[in-house]
Amino acid sequence: MTTATPVSPNEAVLTEALAGLTSFPQKTLPPWLFYDERGSALFEQITHLPEYYLTRIERTLFSAHADDILRQFLTPGAPSGSPLLVPDLFTIAELGAGTASKTGLLLHAALLLQPALLYQPIDVSAPALHAADQALTATFPGLVIRPQVANYVADPYTLDHPSISPHGSPFHPASLTRSRILALYIGSSIGNFTPDEATTILRRLRTHLQPGDALLLGTDLAPSRQKPLSTILAAYNDAAGVTAAFNLNVLTRLNRELDADFRLPAFAHRVRWNAAESRIEMHLESLLTQTVRVAGHRIHFDQGNTIHTENSYKFTDEALEVQLARSGFTPTHTFHDPTRSFALTLAHTL
Ligand code: AVJ
Repeated sequence: MTTATPVSPNEAVLTEALAGLTSFPQKTLPPWLFYDERGSALFEQITHLPEYYLTRIERTLFSAHADDILRQFLTPGAPSGSPLLVPDLFTIAELGAGTASKTGLLLHAALLLQPALLYQPIDVSAPALHAADQALTATFPGLVIRPQVANYVADPYTLDHPSISPHGSPFHPASLTRSRILALYIGSSIGNFTPDEATTILRRLRTHLQPGDALLLGTDLAPSRQKPLSTILAAYNDAAGVTAAFNLNVLTRLNRELDADFRLPAFAHRVRWNAAESRIEMHLESLLTQTVRVAGHRIHFDQGNTIHTENSYKFTDEALEVQLARSGFTPTHTFHDPTRSFALTLAHTL
């Protein structure tokens, strides 16, 4: 989610794009390259498309279950609707927070339980964090925001367990108890990573957590009797062509930032279901045999060759459980929509 056009090419864009485009037999580009200014705006548009059920369902889960999410976080196993006791004060953190639009529903519920709340969003995009900070500060008096600009895959980051006095105000210096952390990793963001990469990310998060802390993971689910594959495919191949524009925009970015000469009409958006890996793949298919220049290198395409631009893993309940266990978490409660299309899984530290 970069903003301005750099004069000299961004080192990471250059090395990763060239490595991916020269890889054989399958050319690839990493999905983080989608998120320049236009790409971020296109993704925002995708989240409002009728076919893109992921954001809509996840938001519905947050609005229906915000209280229950906090109840299960604070007192795992408590019956739904039971009085919500707050044994310790708590703080909410978020990986890849972006503009934090869904998170507001949970922050609102939390601020009905305690007078103040520390929110710790982490995101690579400073502009997105700034927008979230402004919007949330204006909406929620009592919210204390501690944003961190970091790539949670590669950069160091920290999470605070601020100390609190049992009956006094949070964050008071003369305090007695550390607060518990609820760490959000939502939006199916983890779906972009292979199971091994996902394990690395979650284990890393786990090192910042202590007993009583928990993760709330948002994942898109695998096809089933109630969730036909066609529904998933449509979410990545919408009628208005926004996802196609989002996919092709990565070539526009390389043209601009790496002095490349991709001709956009010579490539087409393709979506494939990879059943063996349980993932949606997005590709850009070369419609003819051609050679493209990228940062002084010549990249050859035969007609029909593709650049693999994104994986979006779709989880079964079992895969989710394995992924969490490997990462040091134990699932304690799952929130589903009626068609079991999307899951918000609460997992405590193992
Ligand atoms: C932001 C990774 C959750 O995989 O559904 C949307 C990105 N790609 N349409 C997803 C995306 C194509 C999205 N994530």
